[in-house]
Amino acid sequence: MPADNKDKVTILKLRKQKQNKVKTVGVTAYDYPQALMADNAGVDWILVGDSLGMTTLGYKSTIPVTMDDMLRSARAVARGANRAFTVGDLPYMSYQVSNEEAVRNAGDFIQAGMDAVKVEGCMVERVKAICDAGIMVMSHLGLTPHTRAKLGGYRVQGKTADQAKVILDQALSLQDAGCTFLLLEGMPRESAEMIANNLEIPVYGIGAGDKVDGQLVIMHDLVGLFWEFKSKFVKRYCEAGQMIQSALTDYVNEVRDLKFPSDENFYEIKEEELEKNFSDYIDDLKWTLITQRIESDHKLKVENDEVISTAKNMIRSQFAAYGMSEELEKQLDSYAQNYLTSNNGENYMQIYNAVKTEKIIETIRNQMDITYKKVKPDEFSKIVAN
Ligand code: KIV
Repeated sequence: MPADNKDKVTILKLRKQKQNKVKTVGVTAYDYPQALMADNAGVDWILVGDSLGMTTLGYKSTIPVTMDDMLRSARAVARGANRAFTVGDLPYMSYQVSNEEAVRNAGDFIQAGMDAVKVEGCMVERVKAICDAGIMVMSHLGLTPHTRAKLGGYRVQGKTADQAKVILDQALSLQDAGCTFLLLEGMPRESAEMIANNLEIPVYGIGAGDKVDGQLVIMHDLVGLFWEFKSKFVKRYCEAGQMIQSALTDYVNEVRDLKFPSDENFYEIKEEELEKNFSDYIDDLKWTLITQRIESDHKLKVENDEVISTAKNMIRSQFAAYGMSEELEKQLDSYAQNYLTSNNGENYMQIYNAVKTEKIIETIRNQMDITYKKVKPDEFSKIVAN
């Protein structure tokens, strides 16, 4: 991210938006193009959420997500988000064990280009340690997926005044510990409003009504790229999944129906290049097409015995010069076998192709009237060239 970006959303701007009652807009992003699009749309902040475990890695929950998964996404998002404030989400077991681990992992997010980190739950001591290390923290209360089993599942939180008061007390202690923002997930708007009104720091919500200081939505929910379930608070702005699915189906059909690639998808080559460099290739191609046609029309086949006997003849003629014919005859089978099985099968294919070419030429010969004529070398060259 360019350090001198004048439009960069900073903590000062986010605080001011709370003071001026301007709603702050957040969305998740997990890769470079998503970050670019979110940035271009004008969101204030981007969360590299561990929801990527479910939306892009195919897990059933966020629990298996690792720091490595998160950092790869964080780096990509940092490259795409030029303007938006960015928050990296500390995944399960990256902050629970000790202050040291929490600070180290938070630091890794900052090195990956994030502006702040998000910590789930009322982790006052951890939040203080990370803040003391100079790193901004967004705390996440209400429905906290890392402790969903303890909450009895993905359930709306703060549904009674007492429950809302407990969350408010947690939020206040996190604010005292130095936390910079609060995110409330899955709670009635009245509870969330009461908490937001009692905190100095900006309070954003996901499924927490419209009275908080800003909204967060998971991009895949918003654009129709997540199908496992759809929460009540989600609004789909488009069905990108259906569009991509239908584009992919069109592609598959067009390749099979020979409609793609077509003229507009081919690279061009100048006519003179074709004439200059491609004539040999075209001659080869013609010859290949002719021989394939002859092979199939005349059902020409090369048998294994023919390959072996041609290999033997070749070996015989090579050894004949040394006058070893008697000794050689005894060993010929094994020499031929050795020769044909070595060189990764290439020797076998060479003999096979030679036998096949001989058969094709023989077939052509049988179809033609051949006239023999003596020619001089330059005349021969002209004939070959044509
Ligand atoms: O990972 C995420 O996207 C989140 C939101 C659900 C708040 O933590």
